[in-house]
Amino acid sequence: MSQSLSIAVIGPGAIGGTVAAWLSRNAAIDDLILCARSPLDRLSVETPNGGRIEATPRVLTSPDQVEAAADWVLIATKTYDVEGAAAWLKPLMGPHSRLAVLQNGVEHVERFTPYVAPDRILPVIVDLPAEREGPGQIRHRRDGTLTVPDSETGRAFAALFQDESLKPVLTDDFLTAAWTKLALNCAGAVCALTGRPSGVVHEPGMAELMRAMAAECVVVGQALGADLPDDLPDWVVERTFASQPDSVNSLLGDRLAGRPMEWDARNAVIPRLGAPHGIAAPLNQMAATLLAALEAR
Ligand SMILES: NC(=O)c1ccc[n+]([C@@H]2O[C@H](COP(=O)([O-])OP(=O)(O)OC[C@H]3O[C@@H](n4cnc5c(N)ncnc54)[C@H](OP(=O)(O)O)[C@@H]3O)[C@@H](O)[C@H]2O)c1
Repeated sequence: MSQSLSIAVIGPGAIGGTVAAWLSRNAAIDDLILCARSPLDRLSVETPNGGRIEATPRVLTSPDQVEAAADWVLIATKTYDVEGAAAWLKPLMGPHSRLAVLQNGVEHVERFTPYVAPDRILPVIVDLPAEREGPGQIRHRRDGTLTVPDSETGRAFAALFQDESLKPVLTDDFLTAAWTKLALNCAGAVCALTGRPSGVVHEPGMAELMRAMAAECVVVGQALGADLPDDLPDWVVERTFASQPDSVNSLLGDRLAGRPMEWDARNAVIPRLGAPHGIAAPLNQMAATLLAALEAR
């Protein structure tokens, strides 16, 4: 039996490009493929330790170009690009392929179950600040983590990563980890709504607003079984105060660039999943409604 290992990364943007660049250093991977919407010819990633990774994986720009299924398929498109990303799955997912979803939100598996059986999907929480400066040109700002369930598939995924700058983390409570990240992300909507980076938290009333948005998330997450502490919203606000005042989250980055925004995965999801439990989340609902209207404009 062949021991060769093939990996396809769908969406080689900030996250997909950074992850692919680090994977290019793993000698056990024989075939690394980038599945791109816009063409690129190489990856050049500035690393947190001041170095640079230059890599030239194979680049495909259409699902028709896929010749064989891959052992691992990693999706790193934005959550609103699911349909386009899914078009790659038919040729890439063979009987033994596994799909890792590197996206924000708490619905990694649900998003792709129309296309792939849920037991083949590995949800991944990405804590990795990276920015795309051009096609394949990426700045990986600080060491990051990829958190996955501590399952056989999660451990196999973790084994792909060998560098301190991009560490896999195994958790036996993925639900709680995902909702913790969502609490932070949902409050970040204030940046996209005001058009201002994280320093906006210093404006009057802003910390209270962020705390209240995160509190809505905590109540819904707890109802779904996540083990979230009641003071998590305080942590969200403290983390925002501690962040660089000029740091731009990806929701704001998308707004400034005139792209769609992940308001559904980061805000609308909270009232949507709260509703069956009779829990309203009006602040997050309002944030999603306003962001959707801004996006439509
Ligand atoms: N960036 C961060 O620091 C960060 C941190 C934590 C979590 N995340 C999450 O990670 C996910 C990815 O974010 P990102 O910042 O990497 O986004 P990004 O830089 O916008 O990259 C997304 C990539 O997906 C590509 N794409 C879209 N549709 C495609 C399709 N049909 N086929 C192939 N490629 C397609 C885009 O192509 P184009 O080149 O044509 O746009 C782009 O290269 C998001 O859920 C985000 O919230 C990001």
